[in-house]
Amino acid sequence: MEMEAKKKVLSCIQPSGMLTLGNYLGALKNWLNMQEEFDCTFAVADLHAITVRQEPAKLRQQIYSTYALMLALGLDPEKSTLFIQSHVAAHSQLAWLLSCYTQFGEMSRMTQFKDKSAKHADNVNVGLFSYPVLMAADILLYKPDFVPVGADQKQHLEIARDIAERFNGIYGDVFTIPDPYIPKIGARVMSLQDPTKKMSKSDENLNSWVAILDNPDDIMRKFKRAVTDSEARVCIGEEKHGINNLIGIYSAVTGKTAEQITAEFEGKGYGDFKLAVGEAVVEELRPIRERYEAIIKDKAALEELYRNGAQKAEYVARKTLSKAMKKVGFVL
Ligand code: TYM
Repeated sequence: MEMEAKKKVLSCIQPSGMLTLGNYLGALKNWLNMQEEFDCTFAVADLHAITVRQEPAKLRQQIYSTYALMLALGLDPEKSTLFIQSHVAAHSQLAWLLSCYTQFGEMSRMTQFKDKSAKHADNVNVGLFSYPVLMAADILLYKPDFVPVGADQKQHLEIARDIAERFNGIYGDVFTIPDPYIPKIGARVMSLQDPTKKMSKSDENLNSWVAILDNPDDIMRKFKRAVTDSEARVCIGEEKHGINNLIGIYSAVTGKTAEQITAEFEGKGYGDFKLAVGEAVVEELRPIRERYEAIIKDKAALEELYRNGAQKAEYVARKTLSKAMKKVGFVL
C-alpha cells in the first residue's frame, strides 16, 4: 500500500534578542510536537530582524543562538529542515515578486506595522512596511498545509493567504493556501508586569518577561513578582488578567485544565500559586537550557547543520520560485 505523504508545516522565528516564554508556549513547543507527524521546515528569520536597527556583532550572535536553541528544544535536523532564512536567496526574490501583487492599502492596515512604526518613529523604513510580504514568501515557497504561530501573527498569515489566492487566481495553481495553527492555550502569553500587554522581549521592564534561557533564580523571582489582583482566588475571571495569564502558562506547561488548577489551589493564596507556576516553568525549561549550553559551544557542528539545512530548503524553495517566475513571464 502506498504511504500517504505527510502534511507540510513551516514556521520561522526572529533572532531578535532573547527568546521568551511567549515564543516557547505560543510557537516553539508546537513545532516540537509537530515534528513527528509532519514534514517540517523551520527557519531563523534573520532578514526580518533588520526592519529595526541591529548591532552587527550582536545580530550575528543572536542568529547562532536562535539556531542553537531550535536544536536544544529537540528539533532534529534529520527529521526537519532547519535553516537560516538569509541563506536561501529565494526568500528575498519571491518577496519582490509578491510585493507587486500586494496593495499599499493592505499593508497599511497591519497592526504590527502600526505598533512598530509608533515605537521606532525615527526609523519607519520600507522593510518594516513590507515585512508581511517577506513573511508570505517564507511561507509560500514551502507549500505548507499548516503554519504554527502565536495569535499575534494571525493577521500576517491572513495576508499571506490573500496574496497566494490572488496570485493563483491570475496564474493557476502555484501556491498552497496555508492554514494557521494557533494553540488553544499559550497563543498569547502576557507580560507578567502588565498582563494586558503581550509578553515581549523588547519590553524594558525585565521582570515582565521570562527568557527561555533564564536561570531558575531569575524565573522564580519574576513569577513571585507577577502582578495579580486583590481577590485571592485562583480562577479565570473577566478582570483577572494577571491570574488568567498565570493559569494559561501553568496549563500550557502541565497540561492541566483551568478547572483542575482552580481545584488544586482552592483555599491557597496567590503566593503558593505563583511559586508553583515558577517551579513548573523552571522544570520545563531546564533541559532546554542545559542542552543549549552544550550546543552553542560547538560552532563548527552548528555551521555544518545550518549549511545542510539551507541546502535542503534551497532545493524546495527554488522549485516554487521558478514556477512562479515562469508563470509571470520571466525567461529562465
Ligand atoms: P516572532 O519572532 O516575533 O515570534 C516567534 C513566534 O512566537 C510567537 N510569540 C508568542 N506567542 C504567544 N505569546 C507571546 N507573548 C508571543 N510572542 C511571540 C509568535 O506568534 C511567533 O509564532 N514574523 C514572525 C516570524 C516569521 C514567520 C515567518 C512566522 C517570519 N516569517 C513565516 C511564521 C511563518 C515573527 O516576528 O515572530
